[in-house]
Amino acid sequence: MLVDAIYRGLLQPVLFRFDAERVHDRAIRFAGSAGALGPSRRLAEALFCREFPALATNVFGLRFPHPLGLAAGFDKSGRAIPFWEALGFSHIEIGSISAERSLGNPKPRLFRIPSDQGIVVNYGLPNDGADAVAQRLANTALRVPLGVNLVNTNRGPGAPPETEEAIIGDYLTSLRRLEPYANYLVLNLSCPNTPDGCAFVSNAGRLRRMLAAVDDLRPMRPVLLKVAPFPDLAAMDAFLDAVAQVRFVSGFAVNLPPGKPPGLTTPAGRLRSMPGAVSGKPAEAAINQTLRDLYTRMDRKRYKLVAAGGIFTAQDAYRKIRLGASLVQLLTAMVFRGPGVVRQICEDLCGMLARDGYRSAAEAVGADHEI
Ligand SMILES: Cc1cc2nc3c(=O)[nH]c(=O)nc-3n(C[C@H](O)[C@H](O)[C@H](O)COP(=O)(O)O)c2cc1C
Repeated sequence: MLVDAIYRGLLQPVLFRFDAERVHDRAIRFAGSAGALGPSRRLAEALFCREFPALATNVFGLRFPHPLGLAAGFDKSGRAIPFWEALGFSHIEIGSISAERSLGNPKPRLFRIPSDQGIVVNYGLPNDGADAVAQRLANTALRVPLGVNLVNTNRGPGAPPETEEAIIGDYLTSLRRLEPYANYLVLNLSCPNTPDGCAFVSNAGRLRRMLAAVDDLRPMRPVLLKVAPFPDLAAMDAFLDAVAQVRFVSGFAVNLPPGKPPGLTTPAGRLRSMPGAVSGKPAEAAINQTLRDLYTRMDRKRYKLVAAGGIFTAQDAYRKIRLGASLVQLLTAMVFRGPGVVRQICEDLCGMLARDGYRSAAEAVGADHEI
C-alpha cells in the first residue's frame, strides 16, 4: 500500500530522529484531533478500514469484526479512540488507567531499539486517572468493542509502600468508575516498570484476596487478567488454581517480561542507558511460550486468551491464534510499520486461513495443539 511506503520510507525516518515519548505524545494529539473531525476520520476509514467477513469472531459474548486490536499502552487515557477505530482495529484497549492520575516514572522512559524491532518502555503507567477518563468515555461513541485496562496508581519513585488494602481499593475504585463505559475490562496485574508491579500475583494470598474482592463487586462485563510470563509451570498452575475460585474471570492476556531478554543486537552500552522492559520482536518468544502453556493448562470452556507481543505480520498473528489466542493485539508494529499494518495483516490472514482450509479465524484457535 502506498501509505505504508510513505510511512516507512519518508515519515518514520524523520520521526525516529526525535525523542520517542515526544513523538508518541504528538501522535496521540494528532490522532485525537483527526478522530474528532468527520472528514479526516472518513479519509482514514477510506484508506485503512475494510470488511473481513471470514475473520469476524465472537469472544466472551462480544462480536469482533476481526481478531486484531490495539494493545493497551498506546492510548493510555483514551484520547483518540475514534481514530483507532478509523484505522480498522477490531477492538481498542485503552489504559492502563488507575484510580488517581499518575505522572509515571521520571523521563526519559521510552526508547526505540530499531535493530531489534523493539521498544524499551519504562513509562510507569502515566495516565489521567479514572475520573477524567470516565468523563472522556461518556462522550465517545464506538462501533467496535472497547477494552479498559486497569492498574494500581503509581505514585512515583520514593512514594511509601502501599498496603494491600489500598492497592485492592485502587483497582475497585477504577473498576466501579469505568465499567459502565467498557465492553470488557482488563486487570493489569503485571506492570514490569513499577516498584510492586510484578510482586502482586506472585503472592498467592494477596492474589486470592484481590480476586475475592473483585468477585464481590460482581462485574457486569467480561474481565481479563493481564499477567507477566510465569517463572515456571508451578507458578502458572498456582495462579490458575486461585482464579478458578472466583466467577468473574473470562480470560487472560500476557504482558511483557520484565528486564531485557538475551540476544538483543542493540549494543549493551546503549541498553544500559535504557531502563525498562522490551516490547516487539524481542518479547515474542517468551509471550508465545506463556500462551502455549496457558492454553494447555487452563479450562478452555471458561477462559479465552488475548495476546500481544511482536505481531508485525499476519504470520505473527496467525501463530498466536494457532497457539490459542482468540484475539490478538499490537502496539510496537504501529511504530515500526505505520497505520496500514492492521489492514495488511487482516488481508494476509484471510489468505492464510483459506490456504489452510479454515472457514473462520475462530476455527484456527489452538490449532497447533491438535497436531
Ligand atoms: C510504550 C508501551 C506502553 C505500554 N503500556 C502498557 C500499559 O499501560 N498497560 C498494559 O497492560 N500494557 C502496556 N504495554 C504492553 C502492551 O499492551 C503489549 O502487551 C506489549 O507491548 C506487546 O505488544 P507489542 O509487541 O505489539 O508492542 C505497553 C507497551 C509499550 C511498548
